[in-house]
Amino acid sequence: MTEVALLFEETDKLGRVSMVDTGRVFVDVEDHSLLTRLAVGNLVALRGQTQQEYLVAIVERITRNTQEELLEEEEDKEGNIPLGQALEDTVRAVVVGTYRTVDGDDNNVFKRGADSFPQIDRDCYVIAGKNLQNLMNLLSRDVKESERLQLGRFVADRSALAIASGDRFFQRHASVLGSTGSGKSWAVALILERASRLPHVNIIVLDMHGEYSPLCTESGAFAQRFKIAGPGDLDQPEAGAIFLPYWLLNREEMISMFVDRTDQNAPNQSSRFTFHVQQLKESYLQSQKKTDVLSTFTVDSPIPYELPELISRLKDDNTQMVPGKTTEKQGEWHGKLTRFISRLEAKMADRRYGFLFQPPGESMDYDWLSNFIRALMLSTQTDSRGIKVVDFSEVPPDVLPIVAGVFARLLYDVQFWMEPTQRTPLAIVCDEAHIYLPVREDADAVEKRALAVFETIAKEGASMESLCS
Ligand SMILES: Nc1ncnc2c1ncn2[C@@H]1O[C@H](COP(=O)(O)OP(=O)(O)O)[C@@H](O)[C@H]1O
Ligand SMILES: [Mg+2]
Repeated sequence: MTEVALLFEETDKLGRVSMVDTGRVFVDVEDHSLLTRLAVGNLVALRGQTQQEYLVAIVERITRNTQEELLEEEEDKEGNIPLGQALEDTVRAVVVGTYRTVDGDDNNVFKRGADSFPQIDRDCYVIAGKNLQNLMNLLSRDVKESERLQLGRFVADRSALAIASGDRFFQRHASVLGSTGSGKSWAVALILERASRLPHVNIIVLDMHGEYSPLCTESGAFAQRFKIAGPGDLDQPEAGAIFLPYWLLNREEMISMFVDRTDQNAPNQSSRFTFHVQQLKESYLQSQKKTDVLSTFTVDSPIPYELPELISRLKDDNTQMVPGKTTEKQGEWHGKLTRFISRLEAKMADRRYGFLFQPPGESMDYDWLSNFIRALMLSTQTDSRGIKVVDFSEVPPDVLPIVAGVFARLLYDVQFWMEPTQRTPLAIVCDEAHIYLPVREDADAVEKRALAVFETIAKEGASMESLCS
């Protein structure tokens, strides 16, 4: 017969259940010395419906109340009852799982969630030492050898390994939280290193400060490095430099970058931009004889167009004179696009934005996008390293949310374009996500676009998950 995983002694007994609600359970502590060894995050076991069942709970709060009470049993000869101190210790815990010594034909079964609510007066035990190790081993018992992702060791018992199923871990959302300098990036790097040993790993890290580069360059490197091209890459791009040509940006993204919404001409600027881009994309498709795409494309479709041509058309609008009754008069958009044009021209000339507005000539080829995506996504097939770090450190802060958003949107869209059989589940790791995904009321237009993209991925990307830190 299999050894029972959770076997408690009288010395493990903390107390009894005194209150239960839908989410939590309160335990009246009887062994006050045990309380001093208990910490938030430790596990306790509550006796369940049957002898074979325990509910496993995580300690959330530990309270000690000292009260004065009459010590009746210490009454002296004169009948005086002395005052003494009484300890009222309580522990609040949340039930996370159910353990059964026997469950049908199985022994030692742990499952997530409570099968029943704990009942008043049930015994509560501290799970420590051998019991804790046994329980942790149970958690990873069913994870296949090849899918074992070792996250670390349990704080409550350093001899117990924390093993997750790599497959299931990267299918879900996860976040690593902590204050600055607490070791989040290190923890993520460690998870990546362990994940790199898993089969079929496909992870893209959005690295805002270039701090993950050592994972690609130092000895024992296990990741592949890409970088959003900086000013130095415009003439001689270094290996792995990524250009994100402006035509990848959809209408909303371009407008949020160039139109000041407080400007009274903002609606005119948006509408002329949309009109011309639609036309330019249409003529591009015609020149490439892409008749099938012509009937379905929209202004948001990633189709190349010439930016100088767009500017020239906007300038025509901005200076256009039309015949009036007697003399010529100013056209409908005369003078209304000036600020829009100057914002566009300023960014086009700025080398820091070169990865958007000064892409190499071949990025105007119709097949550029699919080649680019193939290089980024399918490198796992030619290279065993399925972890890719994309360095965003040279992206100017004002466009960072848009650029991160466009990049993530591309990865997401491509999953839909791909044949389902070719699709590889992809995990996105967003370090320093607060920089480009601020959740606040006053998020500007650029930030709101990025948030929308990542929200879509989080909600709908069944095969794409994100790990933010
Ligand atoms: N597990 C660890 N052990 C020892 N030092 C660590 C550990 N994790 C992080 N550090 C140190 O703390 C510093 C900050 O860690 P980092 O991961 O960059 O923090 P965060 O990303 O939370 O701001 C690192 O430079 C490293 O020296
Ligand atoms: Mg960090």
